[in-house]
Amino acid sequence: NTPAPVITIDGPTASGKGTIASLVADRLGWAVLDSGALYRLTALSVLRSGVNADDVDAVAQLARTLNVTFDGERILLDGEDVAQAIRKEDVGNLASRIAAYQPVREALLQRQRDFRQAPGLVADGRDMGTVVFPDAPLKIFLVANVRARAERRYKQLMEKGFSVKLTDLLEDMQARDARDAGRANAPLVAAADAVTIDSSGLSIDQTVSRVLALWSERQP
Ligand code: CDP
Ligand code: CDP
Repeated sequence: NTPAPVITIDGPTASGKGTIASLVADRLGWAVLDSGALYRLTALSVLRSGVNADDVDAVAQLARTLNVTFDGERILLDGEDVAQAIRKEDVGNLASRIAAYQPVREALLQRQRDFRQAPGLVADGRDMGTVVFPDAPLKIFLVANVRARAERRYKQLMEKGFSVKLTDLLEDMQARDARDAGRANAPLVAAADAVTIDSSGLSIDQTVSRVLALWSERQP
């Protein structure tokens, strides 16, 4: 019995991973895993519990014991919908910091693999193709230049009613890029067998079509 297929979509922040993953999943009728949400949920738990973010073991313990339910658009943490709260920049920045802790990554590993189910899964993050689903039959590395990504995130946050400055976002993004790529544990790198898509000049539809075309090419 072969495991359900997985399409992994890894790449830097705001390259469109989440957007593309959920549209591709819709088109295929597959499940979706937003792995970044798990790191963000852990970060939110750190902020709310008052645990010292430098205390690796205490943070890993929070990751291990997260009481979370994914329910469509809703993300319930201890029964409370935190789908909006985890999108804030301070949560994202802390998520990127604690994602460098190996015990945190290990605590979240099985939880991520549990999302794999028939007829298939689209998983987005940083290490979906390299660490979590190394046997995935299609791996996408989705990139876009930092300027395009900062502008996308700016629009997204303004629409959600968060007020931010584009220059601050650009700076944060460069810092986060460096941290995600430079960390020792599961750094952001393309899997050897990943296909890179640069979406800087592509629309959402064009990007989705490209992923779906790659997937149908791989069908017997
Ligand atoms: O939306 P954005 O790309 O900024 O972040 P995210 O995908 O929601 O993930 C939040 C943080 O979690 C990222 O900055 C990564 O450092 C970390 N992360 C990770 O280390 N591994 C993953 N598979 C997913 C996210
Ligand atoms: O998950 P990740 O952080 O990589 O990105 P996202 O949360 O999906 O955000 C990407 C934003 O860029 C969304 O607001 C999309 O509407 C927009 N966008 C895109 O994803 N792809 C394009 N080709 C153009 C815009």
